[in-house]
Amino acid sequence: MQVKKAIILAGGYGTRLSPMTLITNKHLLPIYNKPMIYYPLSTCMLGGIKNYLLISNDKQIYFFKKLFGDGSRLGIKISYKVQKSPLGLPQAISLGNKFINNEPVCINLGDHILFGSGLSDILTRSFSNFYNSKIFIQKTKKPSSYGVINFTKSGSPIKIVEKPKKPKSNFIVTGLYLYTGDVINKIKKLKKSNRNEYEITDLNNIYLKEKKLDYEDLGRGIAWFDAGEPERILEISNFISLIENKQGQMIGCIEEIALRNKFITKRQFLDNIKFYRNSSYADYLKTLI
Ligand code: G1P
Repeated sequence: MQVKKAIILAGGYGTRLSPMTLITNKHLLPIYNKPMIYYPLSTCMLGGIKNYLLISNDKQIYFFKKLFGDGSRLGIKISYKVQKSPLGLPQAISLGNKFINNEPVCINLGDHILFGSGLSDILTRSFSNFYNSKIFIQKTKKPSSYGVINFTKSGSPIKIVEKPKKPKSNFIVTGLYLYTGDVINKIKKLKKSNRNEYEITDLNNIYLKEKKLDYEDLGRGIAWFDAGEPERILEISNFISLIENKQGQMIGCIEEIALRNKFITKRQFLDNIKFYRNSSYADYLKTLI
């Protein structure tokens, strides 16, 4: 089966980034030279996905629409849905009930940045040979702020624990998930956690218990970041700037991916250059044709 649609989650309060998030959405803050949301969108586009639902807060959806509209400038389709009160990731996913329509779906957290050679292969392979729900995991030094995987002695995952004080492994769940079409039914079974939210970890544990959860280690070749704190934004921005300026290639350039994947024609690409007016972003796009 093929995963043909993705939900990008860009809601929440972004409390750790206050005061910026008192006036804007976390996912619109800049990571170096472009809004944070460009990166998770580019990840899914890299894997070939053309149909999107973006979930965010009432007042801020306007700004996402200003950036992407209905997606046609990128040769994709984007619809939007408001999350009124953030009650955890599964609750946000359930707002996409109609969009999911019992079909496989990719969920990507709007503050996630993935970068590395081989990423597009991992994504296209995972999206096109889809059978079971799937999480992407990676080794990390400080696992306790994430969903941590407990393994059996023989190395198969037995349980995921959300933000454990004493993590039993260094493998954590990243914010990219693939779910089978029955995900909404599974979400209905969830109960709120101690932090009064529905937890994506509980959802993944349901699949794991039923032996219907695949996992793939992204490995050390793929850089994975979540940009939820001021220090991270600064560090990731520096990382992106370093690579882009050294290699002369952008990371997370959605128009470049749209052109390369033939989602858009050259003509449409030229219109995108005009969209960015006189900016270094537009100058970069000009170098591509
Ligand atoms: C969420 C998930 C956690 C996962 C993390 C990835 O954490 O609950 O399992 O490891 O995303 O960034 P949160 O963003 O709610 O802290």
